[in-house]
Order: sequence, then structure tokens, then C-alpha cells
Amino acid sequence: MAKQFRADRLEKVILLDAGAGQGALSLAFAKRWEQSRFKSSQLVIDAYELDNAMVKLLEPNLQALEACGNIKTQVIEGDFVEEASNQIRRHECRYTHAILNPPYKKIGSKSRTRATLASVGIETVNLYTGFLALSIELLAREGEVVAIVPRSFCNGPYYRPFRNLMLERTSIISIHLFDARDSAFAEDDVLQENIIIHLQKGVPQGSVLISKSTNRDLDNLSSELVEFERIVHPGDEEKFIRIPNKAGQEANESLSANTCTLQQLGVTVSTGPVVDFRLKTHLRSSASSDDAPLLYPGHFAGGCLLWPRADFKKPNGIAINDATQRWLFPPGHYVAVKRFTAKEEQRRVVAMLVDPALLPELPYGFENHLNIYHENRGPLPEDLARGLVAFLNTQAVDDWFREFNGHTQVNATDLRSLSYPTRDALMDMGRRHATRKSHQ
Ligand SMILES: C[S@@+](CC[C@H](N)C(=O)[O-])C[C@H]1O[C@@H](n2cnc3c(N)ncnc32)[C@H](O)[C@@H]1O
Repeated sequence: MAKQFRADRLEKVILLDAGAGQGALSLAFAKRWEQSRFKSSQLVIDAYELDNAMVKLLEPNLQALEACGNIKTQVIEGDFVEEASNQIRRHECRYTHAILNPPYKKIGSKSRTRATLASVGIETVNLYTGFLALSIELLAREGEVVAIVPRSFCNGPYYRPFRNLMLERTSIISIHLFDARDSAFAEDDVLQENIIIHLQKGVPQGSVLISKSTNRDLDNLSSELVEFERIVHPGDEEKFIRIPNKAGQEANESLSANTCTLQQLGVTVSTGPVVDFRLKTHLRSSASSDDAPLLYPGHFAGGCLLWPRADFKKPNGIAINDATQRWLFPPGHYVAVKRFTAKEEQRRVVAMLVDPALLPELPYGFENHLNIYHENRGPLPEDLARGLVAFLNTQAVDDWFREFNGHTQVNATDLRSLSYPTRDALMDMGRRHATRKSHQ
């Protein structure tokens, strides 16, 4: 990470290390600086750390650096969010460099941290993007930041304000992707890829150096310069940050013939509206003839709808009454896409047909772990539903998805940002698929 910083900008450095821990990153930076031609200038290090036990280790580590004479260090014990926000309010943007491995923690919508960040114009949902946004704001002109962070901010609606801030204030110099199947940031057993991102303030956006490695030791490193338009597609209002790869490039090319948005198809994709713990009293483990089928991802074994499931840990049904009616969909064909896939699953985008022939003629409940394609909260024509399933399950869609989504969660927003074939082409695909199935 220390090596990423520009070699010609190491004179008179004021370095920010936010969430410094024992100071590993500051130490690495100091080593790089001492090896540079600017070692007779000055290096000032401000290290922020909340945890008192860490501070006790951090202080002697940084003090040892001062022996060389040109390095001055300061440990600031306290909450970086508070300290940084105060400095931003005072317009103190003095850091020439920032290096960070920030804490990963969700920020509650009613928390003090959320309010403090909002008070300086930062809207975000996780401490790591909060730290990165604050560090960007604290940088002087042409200041650089190198951060190791999860990749989740690259897509998804909740990180959109952060992406906007980052892309407005800085240019992306490089992104390194740890293309590994394990992760230090893994949460809830959801795969989470990590990146090292290098950003610079106040310089024009040029091509971006993309590198990848398959393990932590940075073996198997491959890198290439990629045009910025491949990273953030022009006109993409969501500002997804894509990390191009060969398969994704080919996928983009093969999908480029598709020009329809979902809206143009007259189709909507929504998150399954039944949040089971909120409707507990209305759920039924075995649905009676008056109850609506309630569909979970577990009802689609190997992609085929299997309902009801006798050995199922989740409910099979939901009562139809005044309290539940608004969450239910009329019977018919729908397309369900899993919102979470297991790490070991080969595909991230898994689309399944909701086939009314396999369900009673009653409204359906779709549980919150599914994304549902529908038309005005009603069913899709059968051919269109079958066509969408066939299209969404192509390798090209999976490769397209992996370019911007580094975890195993598939958001409805992700599916809305895909370009689809025309309605006629999808219907045609659906008819061909149905014929093939009936011949098998
Ligand atoms: C992921 S660790 C990184 C430590 C170190 N930078 C490294 O790379 O080894 C994040 C650090 O941030 C600290 N931290 C967490 N919340 C903080 C806050 N609000 N203000 C300052 N430091 C915080 C933690 O105590 C922890 O030491």
C-alpha cells in the first residue's frame, strides 16, 4: 500500500493514518519515505486510534520512528469520526497523504456517528466508507489516499452517495482486487472481496491501473491500464464502480446488443415483500387450502419449484387476511432471483421460474430473500417469464454481474441496471426454452 503513492510527491509529507491500530501502515509508509530522495525533508504522521489498548502499542511504535530526526508523530486517541468532522468544519484540509485500513461496521440510521457524518455532508451506512469519505475531505489539493476496503461500496443503492462524493472529489488512480475466495471482511458468511484503492484529489481522471491477485501475498499479480469509461459507464446514474476482467469484457460485448431497460419492457423487479419476522403470527408451517403459498429460496431446489416442502424449517404458507393482503401477488408466472447465494455456488445470478402449474390458484407470498420480476405487481406472460429466466441464467449475465459486484448479494438495483433484450426477443427465447424442456 505504501508503494502505491506517487514517488514525486513525497516531499514534506503530512500523513493521516485513521484507525491506526498498532501503526503497521504508518511504519510501512515511513520506510518507503526513508528510501525516497525526499528523506531529508519532513514527514509528519497523525495516527488516530480509539482503542486505548491499541494506543499503548501504537505510541512506542511511532516514537521509534522519530529517532531519524526528520519524522514527527502524533497519536490522537479518540473517535476519528468526531475529530475529523470538527476539522472539516474548520476547513482544515492539510493532509498530503492518507493511508488506511478502516474499521468495518454498519452505522445505525439513528446513531450519533450517522448524525455527525451527515453534519459534514457525508451520507453512508458503514464505518469504512465513513472513514474514507472523511479522509478524502481532510486531504489538501492533490492529496492522495490509499485504502484497503471491502468492495461492497462499488455497487448497491446505499453506497451511492458515497460513490458520488468519491468520484466528485477525487480521481481513481488504481484499484487492486484480491480475487480470493476467502476474506478478512467476511460477514454473515457472505463473500466479500477486498480492494486497495488509490485516489487523488484535484487531478484529471485518466486511465485506471487495474491489478489482481489471487492471494494475500500478491502472487499471480496481473495488471492493465483501463479507460475510466470501462470503470464507471458514462450515463450510469448509479455510478457503479466496475473492475473489468476478460470475461466481463466479453460479456459486455455480447450484451451490448441488448438495449432495453426493464422499464421499457414494462417489467419491474422488487425485493420479496414478506419479511417473515414482522408477519410471524400469519405464517403457517403447512399451508391449509385457504392459505397463500409463501415462497423462500429454499423452495427452489436445483432451480425447480418444489412447494410445499414437508421437511422445511421455514413456513410454507401465509394466511390471507387484511394484514397480509397488501404483501401478496395474484397467481401466475413470475421470475425469482436469489438475493443471496452461498460462497461455494458457481453462479451469483440464479433465476428461477415461478410456475403456477405447481402452486394452488391463490395469491402468493414472496419472502424477502428473493427478488421478484413482475408486471405492475401482477404476473408476467408465460413466454416472457421463461425468456427472462433463460436470459438471466446465461454466463454473460453472471460475468457482467461480477464486474461490479464483489459479494454474493444480488440487489434489485443491480438487476435494474442490466440491459435486456427486447420483449419480443425474450418471448421468443421463452418459447424456445419451453419447447426444449418439453422435448427432454
Ligand atoms: C481494521 S483495524 C486496522 C488497524 C491498522 N490500520 C492496520 O492496518 O493494522 C481498524 C482500527 O480502527 C480502530 N477504530 C475503530 N473505530 C474507530 C474510531 N471511531 N476512531 C478511531 N479508530 C477506530 C480500531 O480500534 C482498529 O484498531
